[in-house]
Amino acid sequence: MGRPARLLLFTGKGGVGKTTLAAATGARLAVGGHKVLVTSADPAHSLGDVFGVPVGDEPSEVDTCLYATHVDARGLADRSWRSIRRELRAALPALSDVDAAELTVLPGVDELLALTEIARRAAEGPWEVVVVDCGPTAETLRLLALPEAVRGYLSRLSLGRHLAGLANHVGELRDLLVDPARTSVRLVLTPERIVVAETRRTLAALALRGIQIDSLIANRLVPPARRWHGPAAGWLRVRRAEQEAVLSELDASMTLPMRRVEHRATEPVGVPALLALAEELYGGDDPLGSSGRYATPLLSVRSVDGGYELTVALPFTEGSTVDLVRIGDELAITVDGVRRLVALPVLLRRHEVTDAVTGESGLVLRFEAGGAG
Ligand SMILES: Nc1ncnc2c1ncn2[C@@H]1O[C@H](COP(=O)(O)OP(=O)(O)OP(=O)(O)O)[C@@H](O)[C@H]1O
Ligand SMILES: [Mg+2]
Repeated sequence: MGRPARLLLFTGKGGVGKTTLAAATGARLAVGGHKVLVTSADPAHSLGDVFGVPVGDEPSEVDTCLYATHVDARGLADRSWRSIRRELRAALPALSDVDAAELTVLPGVDELLALTEIARRAAEGPWEVVVVDCGPTAETLRLLALPEAVRGYLSRLSLGRHLAGLANHVGELRDLLVDPARTSVRLVLTPERIVVAETRRTLAALALRGIQIDSLIANRLVPPARRWHGPAAGWLRVRRAEQEAVLSELDASMTLPMRRVEHRATEPVGVPALLALAEELYGGDDPLGSSGRYATPLLSVRSVDGGYELTVALPFTEGSTVDLVRIGDELAITVDGVRRLVALPVLLRRHEVTDAVTGESGLVLRFEAGGAG
């Protein structure tokens, strides 16, 4: 077993080009000599269509160093769930075998199993990079939120001690996802206002979970048509100007790098077409990027006159709805409907929140000593 693989996760709104760009990134990395597995956690598997070769449940070779597979979460349910079920039965003797089996239909089980399978492939090798086509954003967020949520349930229900195996397992998954040296997300979008709005919400939701987004990819820009003539050229110029306006607005409001890909006249299918797309996407850059550069810790504290300032690093709070509730030693932060409980640093536990503002660095909370006023 070698070094664990880097995980590159691709997500975005439906139809924006996630599968295509994940496949193109995999193909480019393989040409660069990395041993790459491109895998799909999207139940609507379409990697085979994009590579133009059949793709199944076990990794199959697409090209030199390039392999592809699907994660069939339902098919995994029986295998991987068996050990968890054994543990549940030991922890909760009242649970019958049938009850334990029924737990596999709990919401989130498929996501947990899919993630388990991806983490296993990343850990066991022989891959240097595992590129994951995560499917549409809503599913991805469910997938990526799950380890944290399960950990929360286990500790709140005081089950962590009884379900030590499960608790360890979800703890490890969570550690993998929030480690910027091992995992990053690439968000694919098209230059349209509705898509950009969803992209902003996804950015905030991922940041809230402490998951690193390393870049955005704007796909399907129409050609600039600068020297072209005629009504079609006029249409293209207007469309392009509109797309540029949407992208520059997004670009101006954040620090993430944004890569661009034009809308090709033909569908990029098969390795040669995907490599041409990857050339446009990455140019001379290393597609593995400079991971870590954009990672900021979710929470940072500094002392200010008479109290403390806690910064919760969220790329988008402007225009988002943010809700804050203090529950004992935790803060429940809800951004656009996505909620996360954040344990307060010990230092701040006896202090009260006196002010909250949203700014460029995220959400800034001011704490002052409790009971003073
Ligand atoms: N830059 C591009 N130029 C031309 N066609 C493209 C480009 N990017 C993607 N496509 C095409 O657009 C369609 C959708 O792309 P793709 O399947 O990669 O999107 P997706 O985000 O994975 O969709 P889904 O949400 O359904 O999984 C495909 O037919 C693909 O070939
Ligand atoms: Mg897809």
